[in-house]
Amino acid sequence: MSARPKWESGSLYADVPTTSGGLGFDEPMAEHTSFRIGGPADVFAEPADTQELVELLRWARSRVVPVFVLGAGSNLLVSDRGIRGLVVRMGSAFRETHVCGTEIRAGAATRLPVLIRRALGAGLSGLECLAGIPGTVGGAVRMNAGTRGGCIGDALVEATILDRALDVRSLQASELGMAYRASSIAESGLIVLEVRLSLTPCDPASLDEVVSSVMAKRRGSQPMGVRTAGSVFKNPPGGYAGEILDCLGAKGMQIGGARVSMKHANFIENTGTASADDVWTLVQSLKDLAFDRLGVALEPEIQRVGEWN
Ligand code: EPU
Repeated sequence: MSARPKWESGSLYADVPTTSGGLGFDEPMAEHTSFRIGGPADVFAEPADTQELVELLRWARSRVVPVFVLGAGSNLLVSDRGIRGLVVRMGSAFRETHVCGTEIRAGAATRLPVLIRRALGAGLSGLECLAGIPGTVGGAVRMNAGTRGGCIGDALVEATILDRALDVRSLQASELGMAYRASSIAESGLIVLEVRLSLTPCDPASLDEVVSSVMAKRRGSQPMGVRTAGSVFKNPPGGYAGEILDCLGAKGMQIGGARVSMKHANFIENTGTASADDVWTLVQSLKDLAFDRLGVALEPEIQRVGEWN
């Protein structure tokens, strides 16, 4: 991350609190997204724990600076002009996991693959369906990430959150509005700090087998090792966005450096030169195609953030 610049006196960001994980200014978001796309964030901070996070958010509120909480950046389209205000990436204390009987407590910044390995190691079943999803626990709960095999909401017991008043509270899963690729977390202005998941004891060897087969299936059907942000659209009721777009001949459609994957029509790849505008124009074209030809209203699953025209 770049060093604190010599701000002119009175600069909005001159007194942003320092965080243990560092501070970056004009931080290129392309370095923090799986698409490898995105202009600079004014300030990028990594609070180590809840205390540092609250201090940072209090500062942002006092300066009326907008805040965006980043997860793994694996489901994000950040604009080419970047993000005005403060981007927060949760630091070390938010990456801790604790197994207690058949439950796991995991910090919001825990990567899903790490969480799944922890569950497998403890012989606990319930998260195998999430194998291969690159996000963080906080991001996954916020959008109820999942597959046809299930979603993280199925295992969620409660979440420790920071509310709008910056108070730490525990909310039961039933209070978080978990639905298909959705929750009420964002609209309620909540920040997930930690979650408690309830799992089922299972033979570790059979769990390994399930995870291997989920991963093999994914490798066979989705572009891997390519710059994407996962599924572009949510599946519409009663159908699959990928199948619909494939039938409409979308594979290989390209705008600038953004191209619909030849392997799965619900993925857009950055061929190396894609701008955020290229990707979003392609998303709009796909949406129009499905609506004009079939009357299907596709809803983007990828989250668009930052300054757009
Ligand atoms: N299909 C096609 N052509 C395509 C792509 C898919 O005909 O180009 C068909 C498939 O043959 C299948 C159906 O569409 O019959 C569904 O495809 P797939 O099994 O690949 O699942 P999906 O619904 O497209 C969902 C999640 C993925 C997750 C997979 C794994 C959504 C929006 N996506 O994809 O999650 O990996 O299941 O089961 O629910 C993500 O959310 O970012 C993500 C990658």
